[in-house]
Amino acid sequence: MPDDPSDLLSKASAVLTMNDRGSYTQPAHNLYPHQWLWDSCFIAIGLRHSDVERAKTELLSLLRGQWHNGMLPNIIFRDGFQWRTDRNLWRSWLNPYAPNEVTTTGITQPPMLAEAVVQVGAKLAWPERRLWYGMVYPALVSYHQWLYHERDPHGEGLVLQIHPWETGLDNTPPWMAELHEHLMPLWIRLIDKWKLSSAINLFRRDTKSIPMDQRFSAVESLAMFDIQLRLRRKAYDINRILDHSLFTIEDLNFNSILIRANTHVRTIAKSLQVDLPADLEQSMKKTEKALEDLWDPATAQYYSRDFITHRLLKTPSIATLLPLYAGTISKERAQHLVHLIENNHHFGPAFPVPSVPIDSAWFHPKLYWQGPTWVNTNWLIIDGLKRYGFHEHAQALKESTLEMVDKAGCYEYFDPLTGEPAGAPNFSWTAALVVDLLKTKSKT
Ligand code: GLC
Repeated sequence: MPDDPSDLLSKASAVLTMNDRGSYTQPAHNLYPHQWLWDSCFIAIGLRHSDVERAKTELLSLLRGQWHNGMLPNIIFRDGFQWRTDRNLWRSWLNPYAPNEVTTTGITQPPMLAEAVVQVGAKLAWPERRLWYGMVYPALVSYHQWLYHERDPHGEGLVLQIHPWETGLDNTPPWMAELHEHLMPLWIRLIDKWKLSSAINLFRRDTKSIPMDQRFSAVESLAMFDIQLRLRRKAYDINRILDHSLFTIEDLNFNSILIRANTHVRTIAKSLQVDLPADLEQSMKKTEKALEDLWDPATAQYYSRDFITHRLLKTPSIATLLPLYAGTISKERAQHLVHLIENNHHFGPAFPVPSVPIDSAWFHPKLYWQGPTWVNTNWLIIDGLKRYGFHEHAQALKESTLEMVDKAGCYEYFDPLTGEPAGAPNFSWTAALVVDLLKTKSKT
């Protein structure tokens, strides 16, 4: 545990104040100046302890960006001349469903909104909670309906993602393995071959403030950009995208979070005494069953899956453990995942949980989603461990997380072997979830 919890609490709260932009919180100064979808959800979970009205505002401001077809974009861009390049790269206005008042990307991020709505609701007494739920329910339902209509075109229960950024785990190994092995465009292969990639780095904003070896490689950055351009050329129209696309993956992290979110949407509907649309209810049930199709008996693990071929992408990552958060897998399989966290050579180094197991060829202790420990995924795993009754494991992970942040500061991610900080300093979701872990009573 931290030496002085109240000191850590005030430092974390100061980060949230520093990044507060009035109606939303930027993830980090300079590097992430706009509003991000799952960031604001984690941030609201922290803010609810000190100011529940501000937490509500954080979530309501996400709804400004909702598309008329229900999509919630992963980024709502800031106004102002300074940010025009970011807005122009996406040109969300090309799609007729994009909102008029704000500009956004054309992709989404893990559906954490329902969790955040319920966590904020838990801080409200009944009549206020009902009002709060009533205020967000239509937007939530239309988001979940969009997920199934657009992203589960064959009605199989799993939703697909079209850009690595939609997973929230940007350069996570299963996606990067696919990219390097099968999907790298020729022009990027040539740039790599002719060793021109270092010139690309001169144009990057991220590596001006963060060391290069803690971010995407130049080749991977170009590939992300290439996918973005392809999506933009198709005006973010899913039919045109699926007609001939690069990435279509049913991501394990995304679908695990969706299952938990669906459970929360049901809770909200029940509290409001309304019935969910029948097609949505049916799709939700399918997702719980379909998660089991991602289990590979030979290696005894869950994986993401290629949407077209149904091939499991057998490269472990932090997503391997996220079915614990989904909460619908059997206790036996949950126990199996817990063994992976207990293993010091796998998911259990000194400062767990690494975003890639440390015995994987992909593991780099400071490289973004390819090794470092992140506080948001720890929070999700702690929550799952508790619900499966692994209270001691949950408590141990909570303590190591708080100790790590106490020692290093509210950074974006941490070296799982040493606890050293990496990425952006004063990172909002680290701060917010530290507040939540400090304020939430453990049940051991
Ligand atoms: C990075 C993370 C993503 C997050 C964003 C803003 O892109 O990978 O998950 O939402 O930063 O913090």
